[in-house]
Amino acid sequence: MGKVRVRYVCQQCGADSGRWFGRCVACGEWNTCVEEQTSPEAKQTRRAGEWVKANPPQPITEVVGGREDRIETAIGEFDRTLGGGIVPGMAALVGGDPGIGKSTLLLQGVAQLAFSGMKTLYVSAEESPRQTRMRAQRIGALSDELYLISESNLDLICGYIEEMQPVAVVVDSVQTIFSPDLQSAPGSVAQVRESSAKLVALGKRTGTSIFLIGHVTKEGTVAGPRVLEHIVDTVLYLEGEQHGAFRILRAAKNRFGSTNEIGIFEMCDRGMVEVDNPSQVFLPEREADREGTAIVCTIEGTRPILVEVQALVSRSNFGYPQRVATGFDARRMAILIAVLEKRSGLQLGAEDIFLNVAGGLRIDEPAVDLGVAMAMASSFRSRQMSRDTVVIGEVGLGGEVRAVSQIERRMAEARKLGFTQCVAAKTNLSGTRIPDGLSLIGVQDVDAAQDVVFS
Ligand code: TYD
Ligand code: MG
Repeated sequence: MGKVRVRYVCQQCGADSGRWFGRCVACGEWNTCVEEQTSPEAKQTRRAGEWVKANPPQPITEVVGGREDRIETAIGEFDRTLGGGIVPGMAALVGGDPGIGKSTLLLQGVAQLAFSGMKTLYVSAEESPRQTRMRAQRIGALSDELYLISESNLDLICGYIEEMQPVAVVVDSVQTIFSPDLQSAPGSVAQVRESSAKLVALGKRTGTSIFLIGHVTKEGTVAGPRVLEHIVDTVLYLEGEQHGAFRILRAAKNRFGSTNEIGIFEMCDRGMVEVDNPSQVFLPEREADREGTAIVCTIEGTRPILVEVQALVSRSNFGYPQRVATGFDARRMAILIAVLEKRSGLQLGAEDIFLNVAGGLRIDEPAVDLGVAMAMASSFRSRQMSRDTVVIGEVGLGGEVRAVSQIERRMAEARKLGFTQCVAAKTNLSGTRIPDGLSLIGVQDVDAAQDVVFS
């Protein structure tokens, strides 16, 4: 091992200032200086005469490939989000607000692997093994093959992993571990990056899957560096309302699968429980028609999910009307409001408008546009929509309703849950197979849609 050298590099201009400065001596930017390690070996292969052809280029067809083997954890929703299970040697970052259930979910995940006889390791720098054991006991995650350590020194953690050769390791959390080679405090950009890079490299070498837990800051990025997202293969975010019971696991990046799939869980006293039928969860009791609500159907990954959108439109008491959207893009909402004003003549300019997607789900598929517009129109006009109706369609700036993809699967889900009427774009009608018991009404624009749903 060559001697490790430490550099202080500006992330803006790349200048090495020799020691830490709050302001870069070269380009004058503030807070860009980050401690970095360089190891002399890294450069050796490039030196003249020492050209090492370890991995020469080869034709793509001669690269040994085939299917990557997946390890399933028996937590279906977790495997689904990963793209069908854990890939040996993969590195995943699991982010989310404090208290959302990251530790619980991953403890359950590695316990499931341990139950099927695979050795796993849970590194907790935040909690003592005793605390972790108590939690594991409560959620039924006690297995002889699940090992615990409470350690924050990166070198020791790597040592244990190399010695144990577990199938999967959880590091809880990446912000609390530190490399003794760096002077920066745990949680700093330099430390988080260095620790993650080392663990990821170790995982690739030994075939151990690494799960790094990271806390998310208010801005929604994993605290400290975004760079971490580039180091790992997969980035998962666990989200949901702190006070609601539902949690959604979403892949923001996945080298081994699609990023569309979501996993849905409910936080119970036994830990995170999978939700098998999401539509049932996100649809509240439908005993009575209510103003300002619309049922939409969104496709998350490969699953259609029915969701209730709620809107409240009320006269503003202050000069500047409020527009608040929960679970929906606020800009998209502003566009739909403008469309309703301009194309349908609804005077929404002086109204406060609140929009909420029930159950804590975040929907950003354009196919829910029409439903959102109808919910707002319903509240503003004090007209109810039939509770047997599902609204599906994208809305253009001209107020026209556009066709959406996978309409048949959406209708099938609606039928399955007892809906009898579906309002969608007229252009969606041709060639579409309509399930028995459901009627499909095609509309051309938001005006026509209102005529149908409020008739
Ligand atoms: P935790 O996994 O510690 O969250 P994170 O690691 O993301 O910070 O979960 C914290 C919350 O979950 C805590 O407020 C209590 C709740 N919880 C349950 O409701 N049921 C359970 O079985 C467990 C273990 C936790
Ligand atoms: Mg935790």
